[in-house]
Amino acid sequence: MKHTDIKDIFTDKAFIGQTATVCGWVRTSRDSKNVAFIELNDGTTLKHLQIVIDKASDIALDEALKLGTSLRVTGKVVEGRNETPEINAETIEVLGSCPAEYPLQKKRHTLEFLRTMPHLRGRTNTFNAVFRVRSVAAAALHEFFQSKNFVYVNTPLITGSDCEGAGEMFQVTTVGFDQTVKSEEEYFAKDFFGQRAGLSVSGQLEGEMAAMAFGKIYTFGPSFRAEKSNTPRHVAEFWHIEPEVAFAELPDVIALAEEMIKFVVRRILDTCKTELDFFDQHFEKGLIAKLEELISHEFATCTYTQAIELLKKSGKDFQYPVEWGCDLATEHERYISEEVFGKAVFVTDYPKEIKSFYMKQNPDGKTVAAVDLLVPGVGEIIGGSEREADYDKLLAAMNERKMSLEPYADYLDLRKFGSVPHGGFGLGFERLIMYVTGISNIRDVIFFPRTVGNIR
Ligand code: 4AD
Repeated sequence: MKHTDIKDIFTDKAFIGQTATVCGWVRTSRDSKNVAFIELNDGTTLKHLQIVIDKASDIALDEALKLGTSLRVTGKVVEGRNETPEINAETIEVLGSCPAEYPLQKKRHTLEFLRTMPHLRGRTNTFNAVFRVRSVAAAALHEFFQSKNFVYVNTPLITGSDCEGAGEMFQVTTVGFDQTVKSEEEYFAKDFFGQRAGLSVSGQLEGEMAAMAFGKIYTFGPSFRAEKSNTPRHVAEFWHIEPEVAFAELPDVIALAEEMIKFVVRRILDTCKTELDFFDQHFEKGLIAKLEELISHEFATCTYTQAIELLKKSGKDFQYPVEWGCDLATEHERYISEEVFGKAVFVTDYPKEIKSFYMKQNPDGKTVAAVDLLVPGVGEIIGGSEREADYDKLLAAMNERKMSLEPYADYLDLRKFGSVPHGGFGLGFERLIMYVTGISNIRDVIFFPRTVGNIR
């Protein structure tokens, strides 16, 4: 359908004085004695284009003024108030009419209400802005890694091994309920793959295999977690960026993460000004200043042991008590990043018992070379580590956890054939988008959130 993007009408002065055709949905309309006005939005920009209709013309207005109606409008582009382009309509074609029960009426709806209509909420300003930022961030991440010689690899979504070992895998099966099956072994033997299979919680294990060939790789795809935690930061299907680097130790992994975050945030500040102004005004006052501040300072770093000391000294009455060895809960992470450092902070060297089997064991025998990046307002957005590159130590860690070794035979093999120090991390894409938009619930930064009990 031949037409011009509304964004181009706003950005290219050459349209002024020309005839143009635009398409879009009616966001608001106003009818007065001699003229009628329509605010049209086609999704290419947050801004609505004003369509001015002379009521002396033979343009039919009944349907065209209704909220949600889709239109194709042709007319002359002129400069309106504040030199803002608008169109004096010559023809208006109704592409799809919209009845009065259209739920997105003129008032501002709550995000909770909008979650009840995932198919329509994209047509609001908030979602227009969120998804433009998300798209720009995704492109920036690709650009960042591509410019640094990383190879983009696609790791499998269906897998026979559990990377994080936290028992949060969704099972993949084609075998339904069958009363005659006598054992788990018999059940899986009948299944599609002839063994237990699940949706991958992380592409890291395969990513390591690729990094041992191509040196530097990254993945950007969905990961799945059957966590029942019904929190504002967890979804069952999230998008995961996982770089993996050969010939790298923990400080290299940390430096890469900081550079990546700063690159993406700089790009969003440069290209999403309208959207950030909108979030700053409606969702997080001072958001733009926060992002500028983030990229102008070095991130803080502290060890897990120091973090525990800080939490103990805080005098705060945390819901989850703090002891060396405990997992950091969101309240602890937020205290460290918001109240102690007031900025992004890398926490390193966690107790081995609370981290995954693959992390490099530190000489103290108690901790592993792990790193989490905590940011104010959200908490953890990155989790990573240097990997254990020594065959015997890795095997010992797996045996300690009583893991079945068979699904990890190839992974262990990597340590036999030219093993090198290496590491990487996983960035939760939705958590990054929460941080850069100031939107506080993860369900509002992914188009169709999958959470426990909800798959609409
Ligand atoms: O800390 P996690 O579990 O680390 C890994 O999966 C490693 N294999 C990554 C690696 O080293 N290659 O997850 C990494 C990040 C978290 O910091 C968080 O941002 C995000 O993934 N994440 C989730 N995001 C939304 N919903 C969930 N249920 C998430 N679980 C993890």
